[in-house]
Amino acid sequence: MELEVKAYPKLFVRPVVIITTVSERGIANAAPFSFNSPVSFEPPLYGFSCDPMHDTLKNIRENSEFVVNVAGKDLGEQMHVLETDYPYEDNEIVHAGLTEEKAKVVTPPRIKEAAGWLECKLEKEIEAGNHIWITGKIVAVGVNDEFWKEEGVIDVAKLLCHVGGEFFAVDMKEAKYKRVK
Ligand SMILES: Cc1cc2nc3c(=O)[nH]c(=O)nc-3n(C[C@H](O)[C@H](O)[C@H](O)COP(=O)(O)O)c2cc1C
Repeated sequence: MELEVKAYPKLFVRPVVIITTVSERGIANAAPFSFNSPVSFEPPLYGFSCDPMHDTLKNIRENSEFVVNVAGKDLGEQMHVLETDYPYEDNEIVHAGLTEEKAKVVTPPRIKEAAGWLECKLEKEIEAGNHIWITGKIVAVGVNDEFWKEEGVIDVAKLLCHVGGEFFAVDMKEAKYKRVK
């Protein structure tokens, strides 16, 4: 069966992240993203694709910092709140009933309930179609202890993945993986 070309993202199961930023006045903003990926080991780079109208981009352009909070399945219910287009400087973390925690290196807060987080400093932005691809250099990384399956292996069954629109891959319990050294 052929699909409309613009439906292509349905073929990719993508991890959901909540990106936190701050305005120039230091007010936090949070928004979910799923067009995102690791980019490089050395230097450690991460990238995501952002609509140019998003407050997330405005804030990153203000102060060049962001935190990538990897979402667990338990945050699925909060997605509709986090993706709501609240007025600028209206803090979605508060609306979603989540908890801000101080990040180690950057100013934007991280989300305590997240499975893990990457603290990033803006490396570059590239125009990509009707989105902007933001690349950040990772300056600190952490994993919430509840999300380890065994030493060094994340419990992927607990992570939230996005297929498209309101569709999430909610049951990856059967996902099989091997530890490769
Ligand atoms: C699961 C999920 C994934 C999303 N992925 C993206 C994405 O990759 N890029 C994007 O620009 N918007 C994405 N959105 C939409 C933004 O999160 C939404 O428009 C949000 O209001 C932007 O917030 P901001 O203006 O505070 O930055 C996604 C929404 C959801 C619920």
